[in-house]
Amino acid sequence: MSGEWGRCRMSGEWGRASFRVSRLSQHLAAVPLAAGPARRFEGQVCVITGGARGIGRAIAERLCLEGARAMCLFDVGDSTEAVGALQKAFPSAKVLAKKLDLTEEPAVMKAVAEVVKEFGRVDVLVQAAGITGKTGIKTHEVDTADFDRVFSVNVKGIFLCAKAVLPSMLESGYGRIVNIASISGKDGNAGMLAYSASKAAVINLTKVIGKDYVNNGKDITVNCIAPAVVQTAMVDAMPKEQVKYMTDKIPMGRTGRLDEVASTVAFVASQECSFTTGFCFDATGGRSVY
Ligand SMILES: NC(=O)c1ccc[n+]([C@@H]2O[C@H](COP(=O)([O-])OP(=O)(O)OC[C@H]3O[C@@H](n4cnc5c(N)ncnc54)[C@H](O)[C@@H]3O)[C@@H](O)[C@H]2O)c1
Repeated sequence: MSGEWGRCRMSGEWGRASFRVSRLSQHLAAVPLAAGPARRFEGQVCVITGGARGIGRAIAERLCLEGARAMCLFDVGDSTEAVGALQKAFPSAKVLAKKLDLTEEPAVMKAVAEVVKEFGRVDVLVQAAGITGKTGIKTHEVDTADFDRVFSVNVKGIFLCAKAVLPSMLESGYGRIVNIASISGKDGNAGMLAYSASKAAVINLTKVIGKDYVNNGKDITVNCIAPAVVQTAMVDAMPKEQVKYMTDKIPMGRTGRLDEVASTVAFVASQECSFTTGFCFDATGGRSVY
């Protein structure tokens, strides 16, 4: 939440008109690239799960580029390299990492409480942490423990982080939550039972959370994105035939790029995305038909 929005919220009709003008000018400033990147996250406090690498890291870069005041990476992996690179590229932002397993509720609550204590609130939560589990196998070959772990990270992890940040968003009156689902959650990719089903759960969980906080006098929206294949370490670790199966389904005939996903997320995570909640945005090169 920018200070400007905070001031406008408190000062009635004048504030609303002023905020509309300010938002319009921000929007116009975003159009000509020669004018530099938009600054849609100026002064905002952002938490990105899975920010150590891949899609999460690309989103963190984009939000910093657009002025984030604080960038907090939550990841079970080592975020040292990502933090160093972000801090170097964006010295005016405060970049930090919390190393935690998002399936553990006390750890999630503690990490979010520390962020709120240090920065006062959380404006944006992007949930990119996720695992595929074993893929390229038929349903009767799925290991039950693997199924449980995929659901624990991909679904319970998203629920826990949302649960942890929502009180801060309710208190400040502003918040954006963006969950990274997958086209497999709509279509159901053969060979990926646990992953596809968990991503369907992410899409539905997003719809419920969106509806839970709609029309309550606060500007809180909760949406998700369903990307098709983006070449990351996660995809590199999958069987080649599984990746070919998924890539062959993309009508544009290519995989998505990190910057394309980050760009879509940046819109959904910004104040500009103010009339859409509980929705699943597409990033599939034409694969998704609904
Ligand atoms: N890459 C794709 O093709 C693709 C397509 C659709 C959706 N997605 C989704 O996008 C998200 C990011 O994918 P990616 O390709 O960047 O993957 P990635 O494996 O490169 O990054 C995922 C990050 O999540 C972290 N993580 C995993 N389990 C965690 C846990 N329990 N607690 C905390 N952090 C944990 C990992 O350490 C890693 O840094 C995932 O949710 C994935 O399902 C990816």
